[in-house]
Amino acid sequence: MRCVTPTSFYLISHISYLKSHKMKIGIAADHGGYKLKEIIHLFLVKLGHEVVDFGAYKLDNADDYPDFVIPLAEAVADQEVERGIAICGSGVGASVAANKVHGVRAALINDHFSAHQGVEDDNLNIICLGGRVTGNMAAEEYILAFLNAQFTGAARHVRRLGKVSALEGRE
Ligand code: RB5
Repeated sequence: MRCVTPTSFYLISHISYLKSHKMKIGIAADHGGYKLKEIIHLFLVKLGHEVVDFGAYKLDNADDYPDFVIPLAEAVADQEVERGIAICGSGVGASVAANKVHGVRAALINDHFSAHQGVEDDNLNIICLGGRVTGNMAAEEYILAFLNAQFTGAARHVRRLGKVSALEGRE
């Protein structure tokens, strides 16, 4: 008899949901995230999503994450893509760079709970991952949780996000 673990049940049920909910998703990575980006690209295509790849388009150990992450972040802010996935070696540089773009709410994610709660409460629109930290399967699971989640729009979250976005007007 085939064993269905909680994780595989979760993945199967979420894959079924996401197959019927196609999104336009932007992805970007430097050399530290290049290999994971290529895997995630195929994963998203298999799910039926439209993927816009902001590079890097080859492994170049001298490249710089802002050159790929900032164009992705601008596309998310301009709503040219619905959500973004930014990957560098640790995910830290990607999140620092992405959050400089007004309208972007990016976070480095290393656990399943934060992957969906970040969207539900904080309206996260870019997930950042560490290609040298997070394994392929864990990354796929975090991405599913991120894509599957919706901002609740609860008044307390809108109020808190308003206090954050007010900073953008001061610059
Ligand atoms: C590049 O070597 C590395 O510093 C970068 O990918 C990222 O980890 C920065 O946060």
